[in-house]
Amino acid sequence: MRSLAFLSTLLASATIATSTLLTRYANDTGYKLQTGPLDTPWTAEVGTNPWPEHPRPKVQRSQWKNLNGVWRWRNVTAGQVNSPPTGQTLERSVLVPSCLESALSGKSFISVVPGHLYSWYQTTFDIPSNWPTGNRVLINFGAVDYEATVFVNGKEVGFHRGGYFEFTFDVTDYLSTNGTNELLVHAFDPTDTERYQIPIGKQTLTREGMIWYTPCTGIWQTVWLESTPSEYIMKLDLAAGADGYDGSTPYEITVHELGSDAAKATATGNSGSPFVFKVDSPDLWTPSTPTLYNITVQLGSDSVSSYTGFRTISRGVIDGVQRPLLNGEFEFFWSPLDQGFWPDGIYTPPTVEAMRYDLEKLKEVGFNAVRKHIKVEPALYYKAADELGFLIIQDMPSLRPELPDPNNTCGTIQLEGPDAQQEFNRQLGLLVEQLKSYTSIFAWTIYNEGWGQATDASQPWPEFELTDLVRSLDPTRLVNAVSGWTDHTAGDFDDNHHYSTPQCGSPFWSVQGSGPSGYNSAYDPSRIGLQGEFGGVGQQLPFEHAWFDDLAKQTAYELTNTTETWNYRSIQNIVQLREQIERYACSGGVWTQTTDVEGEVNGLLSYDRRINRMDKELWTSTIQSLYDAAAKRGNSSVAITERNDGLAGLQDVFP
Ligand SMILES: *[C@@H]1O[C@H](CO)[C@@H](O)[C@H](O)[C@H]1NC(C)=O
Ligand SMILES: *[C@@H]1O[C@H](CO)[C@@H](O)[C@H](O)[C@H]1NC(C)=O
Ligand SMILES: *[C@@H]1O[C@H](CO)[C@@H](O)[C@H](O)[C@H]1NC(C)=O
Ligand SMILES: *[C@@H]1O[C@H](CO)[C@@H](O)[C@H](O)[C@H]1NC(C)=O
Ligand SMILES: *[C@@H]1O[C@H](CO)[C@@H](O)[C@H](O)[C@H]1NC(C)=O
Ligand SMILES: *[C@@H]1O[C@H](CO)[C@@H](O)[C@H](O)[C@H]1NC(C)=O
Ligand SMILES: *[C@@H]1O[C@H](CO)[C@@H](O)[C@H](O)[C@H]1NC(C)=O
Repeated sequence: MRSLAFLSTLLASATIATSTLLTRYANDTGYKLQTGPLDTPWTAEVGTNPWPEHPRPKVQRSQWKNLNGVWRWRNVTAGQVNSPPTGQTLERSVLVPSCLESALSGKSFISVVPGHLYSWYQTTFDIPSNWPTGNRVLINFGAVDYEATVFVNGKEVGFHRGGYFEFTFDVTDYLSTNGTNELLVHAFDPTDTERYQIPIGKQTLTREGMIWYTPCTGIWQTVWLESTPSEYIMKLDLAAGADGYDGSTPYEITVHELGSDAAKATATGNSGSPFVFKVDSPDLWTPSTPTLYNITVQLGSDSVSSYTGFRTISRGVIDGVQRPLLNGEFEFFWSPLDQGFWPDGIYTPPTVEAMRYDLEKLKEVGFNAVRKHIKVEPALYYKAADELGFLIIQDMPSLRPELPDPNNTCGTIQLEGPDAQQEFNRQLGLLVEQLKSYTSIFAWTIYNEGWGQATDASQPWPEFELTDLVRSLDPTRLVNAVSGWTDHTAGDFDDNHHYSTPQCGSPFWSVQGSGPSGYNSAYDPSRIGLQGEFGGVGQQLPFEHAWFDDLAKQTAYELTNTTETWNYRSIQNIVQLREQIERYACSGGVWTQTTDVEGEVNGLLSYDRRINRMDKELWTSTIQSLYDAAAKRGNSSVAITERNDGLAGLQDVFP
C-alpha cells in the first residue's frame, strides 16, 4: 500500500502501529530499508554506505573520513539536551544521512504526524592511524534539520541552528587517547509546529493541499571528519570574473592548466584579507561551455584543492531593456522550478547519480538554468551544476506563509530561540556565504510569494535591507528580492508568477497597486522582467508511478489526461512566453516543475523519475526558439532600425 491509503491506515491504527514498532525496534540491531509510498531507480542502491563521495568539493583535503552509515537513534522529549545518553546503546537504528520521515531512514514510520521533535543520534569513530598526531581533527556536518547539539565522549563540542547549512567543530581536545570515540547528536526540529516561525521551505507537519510536502527531520547530509594542520584554511571565497581576476584569502594559490597539474597562474596573498590576481585569457564558463579550472591552495603545511569557472554576472540595458548579462552579453535563462524532493529520501537524494540525473534530463532538452526552490542542496549538487552548465537562481528557504497570530508580525511568535526575523536574516547570510563560491550561482531569491515577508510591516519593507545585505556579502550576483506577489520594487527583478499562462515583461494583466501590500505587476521597466513561475500543467499517473494511490489526490494547476495533451498544453504556454520575449521585455522563464512532488503531478519527470513526459524533439526545438527569440531581441549589435520584425524598441511599446 502507498500514499493516502497508507497514511490513513497509519493514523487510524496508531496504537497497533506503535506497539508493532516497539516490539520490532525496542532492541533493534540492524538497519532495514523500509517500503515507502514510492521508490526510485536508485533506492535499492543506497545500502548502508550512503553518500561515500567527498562532500565538499570547494575545499578538499586528502585526509578525511566519512561517518555516514547505520547509527543508533532514540526518540526523546524536551529537556534532554543536557543529559547525553553516554555509553548506552540507543534503541533503534537509523541511516545517516537521511530524513527521519523517509523510507531510507529505515525507521519504519513514514509519517506526517509530529513525533520526532527531539532525538538523539549515536555512533562511534576511530581516528585513522596514519593521520599526523599533531594535527587537528574537525567534524563536519553537511546539514541537520533544525538544531544540532554535538557531544564527543560525553562533552558538548558545539551547537548549530539552521536546517540547511554546513557546520564544523574542532573536536581535537575531546578525543579519547586510547580508543574509540562516542559521538552523540541531539537534534530538535519543530518544522511548523504551532507558533514556530523558522526557515522550512515546503516542509510541513500540518498543512493540507497540493503544494506542501512531507518534512525532513534530523541529519540529512553527510557527516565526516578531516585532519588539518594546526594552522589551516577555514574558508575559501572565490569570485572569478570573466576578466580573469580572482579574489580570495589564501597564502599561495595555483590555478592549473586545463587537464594537467601544470600551473597556469600562481599568486601569493595573506590569509584573512582578499587579494586579486590575474589569470591570462581563461576559457570562459557559460552554460554551453562550462569550463572549470582546478585550483590548489597552500597555507603553510595545509593544502586544499578546489576549482572555479571564470565568468561575470551583471545587469545592463540593451536596446532600452534591462537584461541579465553573462560575460557582458544578454543571457536569456530558461529554468525549471526545482524543488529537490525525493519519494525515497524526501530532502536527501538517494545517491549523487540520482541528483545529477535530474540535471542531465534538463540539459538534454536545453535548459540553461535552475531555480532551486526554497531548499539548499548538498554541495555536490552545485558542483554538478558547475560541471554541466546551469545558472542557478538560489532561493532562501522560506518561513511558513501565514503567521498564526495576525497581531504579530514576523519575528515575535517563536516560543524558543531568537527573534524570527533576525534569525531569518542571519540564515540568509549563511546561505550566501556557503554557496557564493560556486560558479553556477547566478541570482539570490530572498522571499517567495510573500511567505514570511512581513508584508504588513510598514516602510522600510524588510526586503530592501535584505537586498543590501545580500549585495554586501556577494556583490557579484543579482538579487531577486521577492519572487512573486508582494513587490515594493526592491532588487534586480520584476518577477511575476502566473499559472498556467505567462505574463513576462509585458504591460498588461496584473494589477499595479501601492501601499503596504505592494503590487504584482508583470513589468517594471527599471528592472529585469522575469516569469519566476508558470506552467504547472499536470497529468495523473498510474499508481505505480505516483505518491498517492488516489486520483483525487493527484492534482495540478491544470490537468491534462494524456502525455500528448500534456505536451500540447505545455508547449502552448511556452510559445506564449516566446511571444513575450519577442514583443516585450521578458528575460527569463521558470517552468513548474522538474518533477512531480507528492500530490503535485506537474513534473517534466514523474516523482519516481521513471517517466519523462517531454517529447524530446518538441521540447528541444521549442526551447531553442526561446534563445533565438531572445538573441534577436536583445542583440546590442543590431540597431533597432535594422530589425525586420516590425517591432520598435520598448520605449515605443510602453509610453
Ligand atoms: C531490550 O531493551 C530494553 C531497554 O533498553 C532492555 O530493558 C531489555 O532488557 C532488552 N531486551 C532484550 C531482550 O535484550
Ligand atoms: C516520540 O516521543 C513523543 C513523546 O513521547 C511521542 O509523542 C511520539 O509519538 C514519539 N515518536 C516516535 C516516532 O516514537
Ligand atoms: C581512555 O582515555 C580516557 C580519556 O580520554 C580516560 O578517561 C580513560 O580512563 C582511558 N582508559 C584507559 C583504559 O586508559
Ligand atoms: C581537476 O582535477 C580532477 C582531479 O584530479 C581531474 O579529474 C580533472 O580532470 C581536473 N580538471 C581539469 C579541468 O583539469
Ligand atoms: C488582535 O488585536 C485586536 C485588537 O487589539 C484584538 O481585538 C484581537 O482579538 C487580536 N487577535 C488575536 C488573534 O489576538
Ligand atoms: C480527457 O479529458 C477530456 C476532457 O475532460 C475528456 O473528454 C476525455 O474523455 C478524457 N479522456 C480520457 C482518456 O480520460
Ligand atoms: C547579433 O547580431 C549580429 C549582427 O547581425 C550577428 O552577427 C550576431 O550573430 C547576433 N548575435 C546573436 C546572439 O544573435
